[in-house]
This record gives sequence, structure tokens and C-alpha cells, in this order.
Amino acid sequence: MRQEELRQLLEDMSLEEKIGQMVQLSADFYKGDAKSVITGPAASLGVTGEDIRLAGSILGAYGAEELMEIQKNYMAEHPHHIPMLFMLDVIHGLKTVFPIPLAQGAAFEPELAQKCASAMTKEAAVSGLHVTFAPMADLVRDARWGRVMESTGEDPYLNGKYAAAMVRGIQGDDMSKPYKMSACIKHFAGYGAVEAGREYNNIEVNEHTFREFYLPAYEEGIRAGAGMVMTAFNPVNGIPATGNRRLMRDVLRGEMGFDGVLITDYGAILEMIAHGYAEDEKDAAHKAVEAGADIDMMTNAYAANLKQLVEEKKIDEALIDEAAFRILELKNKLGLFENPYKDADAKAQGQVRLCSEHRALAREAAQKTCVLLKNDGILPLDMSKKIAFIGPYTNNHEIHSTWAFTGDVKECVTIEAAAREVFDISRTTFHQGAPVVGSDVRLSGFASDTASGKVSAREQEAMLDEAVLAASKADLVVMPLGEHYLQSGEAASRAMIDLPEVQMALFRAVAEVNPNIVVVLFNGRPLDLREISEKSRAVLEVWLPGTEGGHAVVDVLTGAVNPSGKLTMSFPYCVGQEPMHYNEYATGRPYDRNERLCTRYTDVPNEPLYPFGYGLSYTNFDISPIRMSGSEVTEDAPLTAQVTVKNTGDCSGTEVVQLYIRDMTASVIRPVKELKGFQKIWLAPGEEKEVFFEIDEPMLRFVRSDGTWGSESGKFTLWIGSSSMTENGAQFELKL
Ligand code: NOJ
Repeated sequence: MRQEELRQLLEDMSLEEKIGQMVQLSADFYKGDAKSVITGPAASLGVTGEDIRLAGSILGAYGAEELMEIQKNYMAEHPHHIPMLFMLDVIHGLKTVFPIPLAQGAAFEPELAQKCASAMTKEAAVSGLHVTFAPMADLVRDARWGRVMESTGEDPYLNGKYAAAMVRGIQGDDMSKPYKMSACIKHFAGYGAVEAGREYNNIEVNEHTFREFYLPAYEEGIRAGAGMVMTAFNPVNGIPATGNRRLMRDVLRGEMGFDGVLITDYGAILEMIAHGYAEDEKDAAHKAVEAGADIDMMTNAYAANLKQLVEEKKIDEALIDEAAFRILELKNKLGLFENPYKDADAKAQGQVRLCSEHRALAREAAQKTCVLLKNDGILPLDMSKKIAFIGPYTNNHEIHSTWAFTGDVKECVTIEAAAREVFDISRTTFHQGAPVVGSDVRLSGFASDTASGKVSAREQEAMLDEAVLAASKADLVVMPLGEHYLQSGEAASRAMIDLPEVQMALFRAVAEVNPNIVVVLFNGRPLDLREISEKSRAVLEVWLPGTEGGHAVVDVLTGAVNPSGKLTMSFPYCVGQEPMHYNEYATGRPYDRNERLCTRYTDVPNEPLYPFGYGLSYTNFDISPIRMSGSEVTEDAPLTAQVTVKNTGDCSGTEVVQLYIRDMTASVIRPVKELKGFQKIWLAPGEEKEVFFEIDEPMLRFVRSDGTWGSESGKFTLWIGSSSMTENGAQFELKL
């Protein structure tokens, strides 16, 4: 539809219709018998039949037949036959489930994330969906927060690259094209900074850090063209994001130039009452609409109050027009006025979902996201040995995440299933050893099913005995261990970030009879791995790898694939170090091991157990000292930093060569190191390659003491290496 036609449509719409566009309801209101819905769930929310008739979007359903039916009935009833938008959380896959976003970050390959996003969008689009609530661009620093699994980690630069790549994967260059949808950047802003990692808690971030660390990744996603942004539950500078006019109108729309649709997070308008920022539902609706929230997700605040607010002249109708128009524009960008069903196609669903191409991509992604944390040479596995697989993830299909609720866990390939394809079964055994969690762990999630308490004490003992016996007879033991998938995700904060006790008991018992242990870890967050690291010979982090997890892990264990993932969140030494991130500000008393009065803990090291950017390979890479093309950078003359990277081992492999920079003196204190570039290179044994990084003025910009972005003349240090701990440095100067 042309812009003039869209404007005309808006003019023809009644106030109620325009407000309807701003209301998002659950798909349940459109299923089954309308009358029973209205007297049932709708009544409890205060939703009327008219609200249901006019609501501009729904969330929580997928499937071509069902959504086409809803669209057809809805449009027939709607006064202007405007199509509705169908939204859902498709975060890392619909049916083919790709590794969780935190794992995808570890691949250091945004292009791969783009491909995964594109494949998941295809499955979602043929299933009738128009908008996915992804990507989450929140910066995370605290492993206690359950939602770190949905982020790509602690670095703003890397997160920005991923947010943009995922937006491109979801939307392409034109979201009206086949198999494309609208992305939604969330949660604006700062949700990742919830205090003490406790879900739905407040955040306390100063303006400088907020702008420099937290905002950039959202901005990159917006710059990539994201059609939608979601508000955060938390307040920013004391004002809930959903009612935060300065944040939404000045920063998001004004400074970042976002002109798409702003949707609230689930029920967030009413949460302003609990925050003590709004008196009642009407006040909350008033504040949210003034702040610029276009769609009210799942409360009745807009539907019940906006009309009255306009009639009482408390708000200008122009605010409603502006919001409704943006929503119509998004529908138009998706091409819904021409084709309200877009890609919904019942037949295509069967062909696209879990197709071999998507499965192959899921396998590749899961391989590339594995991070080898420790290896004394026991990996890759010597297949001539007697191997016992022992642990609750040996044959466990629950290697999705809570966000993959649309996937079918039965489709997940387990380690055992994959191992049976390649290992000599006459000398390989498989044992559960323990349940994922014992009765000491309480689980709750979207799914009602929990493993806790299902295994009796006697069964548990029998499992353990069988496992220990098998371990004692084997040459080496592979232990697939991990968190329960319900231990990470939304509303899954943990104060203790270790493996469930029942698994630690298994691990200790096995370690007593066989020291040749390879631990394979399934989890959605960094864990305290001190004991695991100390008592095992190798540790392979495989996250929640999704549908093809088992195949990918076995590919890596056997050496068919050489691991190349690198951590994008520091794995702390212990939980007391949290929040933890490598790019911390320089202190006045830097760590000095000969000095007592310096920044340090008295009981544990300052460093994480495994740092940002870290990950081993089956081969070794030698990175030469840095050669600089000069010693000065100016506004028009960049510098080049060059290293030679050589594969000194005897198998081919991929290294992520990382560039870090520190501004040595500035008008505000600067981080001790910041990632400014990376390159992934593949090398055959003995092969070497030159790797170049260009250092230019824009990459040296930061939020200066006067609040503006810019660079300052002075000395800089740069490092090029294989993790954030690299000491391979050189100096240069910026002359403005
Ligand atoms: C709440 C979550 O915070 C958000 O990320 C999600 O998209 C919505 N619920 C909708 O499910």
C-alpha cells in the first residue's frame, strides 16, 4: 500500500479502531468458541468482545492453518478489514532448534548466526508468523541471571555484530519478501544489568556506562533495520523503561533514529503500578503512551483507558495516531495489506521444518559453538579404547532451552544416538549415572514437567553403582553433565552457579575409580567449574546445542571436527566474583601480586577460571609479535597492525584472532581492554597466514567526560591474540 493510502486509512479509522491496533492479546482469545472466551479468560483480564474484534496483534500461536483461520475471521469482522500481526518468541529455532544465542556468540561468526536466524525465520514464516521477539541484544555480565543464555555475552562490540546479523537473517533486506519476518530488538534498555543477577530486579547503571556498554548493541540492531523494539521490565534511572519518556522518545527515537514499532514487554504497563510509578491502570496507560509505547503486550490498560484519556483531553489524539500509524506501517512493510497470510503455507511447513538443510546447519552451528576449556591430550578420543559414557546427558533429549518451546525434544539427537553411529559398540557403554537434578532442586518453567523428584533414592543408588562399575572397567570415561534446561532462561536466576549436587556426587564417585575423565557440559550460563576442571582431563562446553547437539558433540569428541569456539562470557573462578567481565574499568590500584593494598580478593584470584575470548583447539597456533605500519593514527590516516599466525600442530584448525585496544589516558577512565575486531582463520598443519587489522579513528571513540561520543588524542595499547588474556601488545598514538 502506498503511504498516501495508508494515511487515508488512518484517517478513516475510528478512535477505537486506532486504539485497537495498539492492543496485543493472547491467541487464546481467538480460538474456539468466542463466547466462552469472553466470559472466561477475557473477563479476568477485563477484555471485551470489542477489544478482541479490534486488537491489532496476537502472540502465542503458530501454525499455518490456525493462523490463516484466525486472520480470515478477524479481517471479516474488522471494520476496515485490516490484517492482524502474529507474533511469537522464536529465539533460536522453531522446529529445527539451533544452539542458544550464548553458544552462537562463542562461534565468533555473526554470519553463521545470520544463517541460523534466516532458517528459523523460514520455518516460522511458513507457520504463519510475522514478527519474532528476537534478537535479545542485552549486554550481560552476571552469570547468575538466567537469561544470559539468550544474550551473546559481555562484549558490546560482539553483541552489536550479532544483533545486526540476526536482524538481517530475520528480515533480509525487505521483510515483505518470502520467508522474512520482522525482528524485535529487546529489551530496551539495560535488562541485562539486573542487580545481583536476580530476575526482574532493578538495574543501577550510571549514564556513562549505560551509553557506552549497554546501548550500542541495541543501536546496531536498529541500524540494521529492526522493525520493532521491546521495552524492558526494569527502570532506567529510576523510571520504568515502559513509561520512560526520555529513554524512548529522546534516546531511542531521537538519538538512535528508530522509527519502527515499540512494543512493551509482557504485562509491563501494569508493572509500573507495582514499581510505584503509576497509581492505577489508567495512570499506567497514560505514562506508557506518553513515553511512546505503541503496543501494549498482554494487559488491558490501553484498551480500557486510552479512549477516555483522549476524551478527557489528558492526552492528544495525535499520540494515538502516531502509534497506530507506525503499526500500520509495519503491516505494510510486511506486505500484509496485499497478502494478509504472507508465507503461511500448511504444505510448506512439512517441507521446511526440520528439513535436511536446516538440520545440517544446526549441526554445523553446534559444532562451531563448542568451546574446549581444558585438554591434556585425551581429546580427540582414542577410539580403540574402552569408553564409558556416564552422565544424565548421555541419552537426554532435553538439550533445547526453555525458549525452544515450539521444538519437539524427541527430534534432538542425543550423544548416545550419535555415538552409536560411529563408535565400536562392543567396547562402548552408556549409563545415565544420575538424574539431571536431585530432589534438592526445585524447577519451574513454561513446561510443567520437571525431572526433580522423579527418581527414587533406591533407583538413584542403583544408577550410581552401575556407573561406577562401568567407569572402573573402562579405559576412559566421557561424562555428559550439565544444568537442567529449566535452570536457565527467563525467571531462572541462580545464586549458586554450580552443577547440580547429584551430578557432582556422580562425578566424584567416577573420579575415584577412573581419572581419565572427559566432561561434556550442557548449560545455559557460565558455571563454577573449579572441581570439574581440576579432576578431569578435558572439559568441553557444548551449551544447549539444540536439535543436532548429539551429532555435533560426537563430531568434536572424535576429532572429525576440531573445536574453535571461544567464550563470550567469562567463566568465573567462583560465584563471588560475579558480576564479572574482562572489559572492566582501570582501577587506581591495579592488581600487583607483591602488593597487599591493591584491587584483589584475599581468598580467590581476580581472574576468571576461563576468560572472555578463550577456547582451545586440537592443534596449536602461534601468533607472532605485532608489526605496525607506523606509530600514529590520524583522522584520515589509519594504521595497520599485522601478525603472522601459524598452525604449529599436526591437524588443521580454526583460530579466532582477536584485537583488543586500551586508551591509556582519557577524560574518563577507560576499560583495561576492549575487543575491537576479530578474524576467524583456518590453517592446515604447518600453514601460516598474515592477519591484518586496520586501526582507525572511529574505533577509538568513546563516551567522553562531556557525554559526547568521540576520540581523544593520546597513547593507546593494542593486543592481538587468542583470548582477552593475551599479552601480545604494541603501542601507537592518536593525533587529532
Ligand atoms: C517476556 C520476556 O521478557 C520477553 O523477552 C518475551 O518476548 C515476552 N515475555 C513474550 O513472550
